[in-house]
Amino acid sequence: MILAPSLLSADFSRLAEELAELENAGVTWLHLDIMDGVFVPNITFGPPLIKALRSRSKLFFDVHLMIEEPARHLLAFRDAGADMIVIHAETDRHARRTLAEIRALDLKAGLALNPGTDISAVRWLARDMDMLLLMSVNPGFSGQKFLPETFAKLRAAKKLLTDIGASDVTIQVDGGVCPENTAELVAAGADVLVSGSSFFGHKPYATRLKTFMLAAKSGQ
Ligand code: DX5
Ligand code: ZN
Repeated sequence: MILAPSLLSADFSRLAEELAELENAGVTWLHLDIMDGVFVPNITFGPPLIKALRSRSKLFFDVHLMIEEPARHLLAFRDAGADMIVIHAETDRHARRTLAEIRALDLKAGLALNPGTDISAVRWLARDMDMLLLMSVNPGFSGQKFLPETFAKLRAAKKLLTDIGASDVTIQVDGGVCPENTAELVAAGADVLVSGSSFFGHKPYATRLKTFMLAAKSGQ
């Protein structure tokens, strides 16, 4: 399991230090939540901030776009330093084309599904993505409660990917993830877990990371 702390819950007044602390703690991925105030009610940050962080960090930048018509902004996020771009199925009528464009920029491509979007959206797109992101809260804010239906959805997604010969597609779960639900998420097929409030609220980060990884181990 890879743990990807979500920057949204970091201390915004000292981001460079936060990043250094994450790297020193052994974190390898950073999840960056981009919100446009249209697809989701909240507004966060954009390419300039990612670019500033890129110059300070070697972490894998996993950029989660919660924005309408994400294809308009791929280049800006690539140039800012994204390693992976994840788009929402609900925001793009041509998700296949956009996923191909992300890969053509030499980035990993991911598709995210809202809690209410069925996994059937994935069946004919599996070859076009490196990662499937299942939202386990309604996107928009950190600190929300994990939706327990996610476990069944995750098992169904894992089975679908296996059945269609796409088990190389990794599965990420985002929203309300904490050490208490980590074992069950890993057992159900999650490869990457995003954690915002349940990670950043707990220092030192090395200890918190260890807590998550130990929980993950017991789910394997
Ligand atoms: C929600 C975001 C999440 C969020 C996770 O819309 O996509 O990445 O920051 O935060 P927690 O772990 O607090 O739910
Ligand atoms: Zn996210």
